[in-house]
Amino acid sequence: MTASLLDRRFATIGRHSPLFYDEPVELVSARDVWLTAADGTRYLDAYNNVPHVGHAHPRVVEALRAQAATLNIHTRYLNDRVVAYAEDLLSRFEDGLDRVLFTNSGSEANELAFRMAAQHTGARGVLVTDWSYHGNTRFLAGITTGLRTFEGLDPHVRAIPVPDLDDVAHAGRAEDEVLAEALAAVDRAIDELVAAGHGVSAVILETIFSTEGLRRVPSGFVTGIAQRVRAAGGLVIADEVQTGLGRTGRHLWGYQRHGLLPDFVTLGKPMGNGHPLAAVVTTEALLEEFGSRNEFFNTFAGNPVSSAVGHEVLRIMDDEGLVERAARLGDVIRAEFDALTARHDRLGPTKGDGLFFGFSVFTDETRATPDPAATKRIVEGVKSRGVLLSRIGPDGNVMKIRPPLAIRDEHLPMLLEAIAASVDDALR
Ligand SMILES: Cc1ncc(COP(=O)(O)O)c(C=O)c1O
Repeated sequence: MTASLLDRRFATIGRHSPLFYDEPVELVSARDVWLTAADGTRYLDAYNNVPHVGHAHPRVVEALRAQAATLNIHTRYLNDRVVAYAEDLLSRFEDGLDRVLFTNSGSEANELAFRMAAQHTGARGVLVTDWSYHGNTRFLAGITTGLRTFEGLDPHVRAIPVPDLDDVAHAGRAEDEVLAEALAAVDRAIDELVAAGHGVSAVILETIFSTEGLRRVPSGFVTGIAQRVRAAGGLVIADEVQTGLGRTGRHLWGYQRHGLLPDFVTLGKPMGNGHPLAAVVTTEALLEEFGSRNEFFNTFAGNPVSSAVGHEVLRIMDDEGLVERAARLGDVIRAEFDALTARHDRLGPTKGDGLFFGFSVFTDETRATPDPAATKRIVEGVKSRGVLLSRIGPDGNVMKIRPPLAIRDEHLPMLLEAIAASVDDALR
């Protein structure tokens, strides 16, 4: 059954579209934090950040149904649902970040933020972190460092390294020294862009540095970059496509962990709980400037159905206290992982924050050489125990654990036991 579906997929979607696992999972339904496969297996979802409030949340489904049955139309007409959602969303940002443009995907949001930044600054130069991903448009392909792209980095783009204090290379070094080295690299990148005539338009940062391998950066790294970019005339884009809406626990937005106030915040994945909904949040001045120069329109973005869904997601998060729970469960899981990683000398320390965490896997106790093969064995082992998660980082040796925020205390034993047993097996 699965083999023939796989063949049909290859014959239509092609062989290059990524599929997880040695034996791909065919999913037929999902509810809350549970995924059901075609063979009847139920998996605990510890990977998917899009079904933020839980798969097929009845309130989201009903909000979608009710609005789809009433009115769905593009945004060139007045509609209270759309404005009410925009108001509620913006009320959750700092003063000054008080305008929103809706889009259909995180890629569109980042593309738009870069376009606005280029128009504001008159510059083209972009800073991006090494081994990151921000989307799939042509412009974003040219800034992609963390996935294979044919385009490669565009000439107006410089990649800046992201230090990881957990890296053995930094063991015993003062945090300030690591910070100074990292910021000196930012200075050099800015100098290069200016010398090449590109100037500095913007830096884009995903502040949990997830694709990079959930790096633990020195304090002051994020604000240090922002300061330097602004001094060079550029703007700061916080990519909250993954980290937004409470993923990192104590804060609603990941950039707040670093004391950063961005010029643009780009949102996506969890906003619509699976419905395509994304956005750029920015200042009144930047939106006014862009709006006065461009007749910007996006057919599907921020329509009444999308707005009804997005608004219901926010209300559910409030009613169910999901951000507070993410912080609390994140602490519980972190303590368990600290114990697990202390037991295995081939594992690095617990990484991440809130409900986005992992640990690195190495070939031996020196923790100098990443072990992607063992990491893969852990991921497959966890799957065989009924839990889905993944791995990340340039070497594919960082466990990526990122359940829907709907996960609750009662699910933790299954999650933690599956991981611990799979680690024991894989590192035996
Ligand atoms: C940090 C980040 N930004 C942007 C994107 C692009 O979002 P989308 O796939 O909705 O275009 C992704 C997608 O994986 C992402 O992880």
